[in-house]
Amino acid sequence: MDVAPAPGAVIDRLRAAGCVFAEEEAELLLAATSSSAELEELVRRRVGGEPVEQLVGWVAFDGLRIALEPGVFVPRRRTELLAAEAAALLGPGSIVVDLCCGSGAVGAALLAREPDLLLHAADLDPAAVRCARRNLPGVPVHEGDLFGALPPDLRGRVDVLVANVPYVPTAAVALMPPEARDHEARMALDGGDDGLAVARRVVSGARGWLTAGGSVLFEAGETQVTGAVELVAGAGLRPRVVTDDERGGTVVVGRLGPS
Ligand SMILES: C[S@@+](CC[C@H](N)C(=O)[O-])C[C@H]1O[C@@H](n2cnc3c(N)ncnc32)[C@H](O)[C@@H]1O
Repeated sequence: MDVAPAPGAVIDRLRAAGCVFAEEEAELLLAATSSSAELEELVRRRVGGEPVEQLVGWVAFDGLRIALEPGVFVPRRRTELLAAEAAALLGPGSIVVDLCCGSGAVGAALLAREPDLLLHAADLDPAAVRCARRNLPGVPVHEGDLFGALPPDLRGRVDVLVANVPYVPTAAVALMPPEARDHEARMALDGGDDGLAVARRVVSGARGWLTAGGSVLFEAGETQVTGAVELVAGAGLRPRVVTDDERGGTVVVGRLGPS
């Protein structure tokens, strides 16, 4: 008979490995496996540093279950603020782009809130694009470098451009927990010297894609807000900053046109 280890034993091993949410993670691993051999394999990999979300193949985001694959950025809870702020700008028929879409979590959250969107998503990483296609059935998910991935006929027609760009300064990537540093694609984390390299490209390109009154939204670190606001203002967009202390998120919004 295949006897599963008692949850307590799994919790103890996870806790000893430094997993802060050992009880919750043990529950997820137990629910994701159907034999003690499978469970042992996942516990071993988790103790070795793999993110629990990649091991079980999904993550909860904004009330949705988002499929995940190894190597793909694990959507963070703080990014629910980005989704909420973008959603507040939408209406039926809005044209929306989820640039740097990763698993497609933000786009999926927007569609769940407003099903009548015209959504496009894009990412440079083929694994992310594959994953986003699973989470966004029926949505065109393009592969390529930022705006270069998008159909040119979207130019000047995008109401909301949401981009959870990588924004960790290059030197700080090595200081991230191993589950991020070793198991999420480098391009999902590294935002260049000041962390704003990709944001800079998104903001400077946004103007050509937004409709009059359209907005670009991206997440930034607390210490990057001043620089991010300067980027937005420098691109001729009206900046606004939203923070959420509970989720630890900061979102910078740039609107094209008068307020
Ligand atoms: C911080 S992750 C965010 C993923 C997803 N939006 C989320 O919130 O979970 C950043 C994403 O940007 C993508 N990326 C980085 N550089 C890119 C580029 N030049 N063009 C398109 N995507 C890029 C990465 O592959 C990664 O999926």
